[in-house]
Amino acid sequence: MDISGKTAIVTGAASGIGLGIATALAEAGANVVMADIQKDAVEQAAHGLSGTNKRVMPVRIDVTQEQSVVDALTEAERSFGKLHIACNNAGVPMHGTKLVDVPPADWEFVIGVNVWGIIHGIRHFVPAVLKHGEAGHIVNTASVAAFQNRRGTDQGPYSMSKYAALSLSEALEHELEGTNFGVSVLCPGPINTAIARGARNRPDHMGGPKDPAQDAAVLAERLATTGLDPRRVGERVVDAIRTRTFYAFVSAVPADVIKARHRRIEDALNSDWVTHY
Ligand code: NAI
Repeated sequence: MDISGKTAIVTGAASGIGLGIATALAEAGANVVMADIQKDAVEQAAHGLSGTNKRVMPVRIDVTQEQSVVDALTEAERSFGKLHIACNNAGVPMHGTKLVDVPPADWEFVIGVNVWGIIHGIRHFVPAVLKHGEAGHIVNTASVAAFQNRRGTDQGPYSMSKYAALSLSEALEHELEGTNFGVSVLCPGPINTAIARGARNRPDHMGGPKDPAQDAAVLAERLATTGLDPRRVGERVVDAIRTRTFYAFVSAVPADVIKARHRRIEDALNSDWVTHY
């Protein structure tokens, strides 16, 4: 779809990939609502962009809270009119702890942001676009972790949340088939962002900010040295919206691991226990 003159909302827009997406959309001529739980940071980020004559507006949102998503949407529509593009991007990491040792509060945090954040976005942003009938697009940020559980990282809860993001995107694509509303699932490899310090944004009702896990420094170092510039991810998203691409991979992808997983599934399907339809 053509992006120029359309209105987009991007969650997690104060930092990293969300900021990269907001920047690229603004450069493509969209009005951009930059939504983030970090009020000061998102205001500062929007200020940085608006200095270049872009039409951007910061808004505080906590994607784990349905009412907060509704409020942000109301502000977006009040400022710019119709919504056309929604990027459900806010997300937090969860790694370094074996499944049996992850406390319930940590499960709630990662599911709250990474899964409920997308569910709330689907429930409210999608009808807001459909109601005016013009072209629209939704981008859900998953990860290459949506296709594999990376050995040795103990990131099971994070991967689970990203498999969920992928599944929700697939289901939504089916439901929107035949409409002028596109769906993309953004699947980045390593990107140079602040995600290793994701627990800094833990909402108060989920236990409040936490010091990053000890091994977060290792992840931060890996992303800083090998991660792609988040502005490139923004360009990837703009291209996916323009070309209505579903799987929007970007950066380094563990292709052999993903292919091996798919081969294992195919082998399992060729079993005497299974009939095909
Ligand atoms: P980041 O930490 O730099 O940015 C995440 C943003 O989300 C922050 O500005 C944060 O304040 C915001 N946020 C966190 N909780 C929120 C909430 N409850 N409500 C609203 N905003 C909230 O991290 P990054 O890397 O930019 O992450 C963005 C997305 O990209 C996440 O979904 C992440 O899982 C995904 N991703 C990141 C990769 C990477 O290598 N950095 C790779 C693959 C996926």
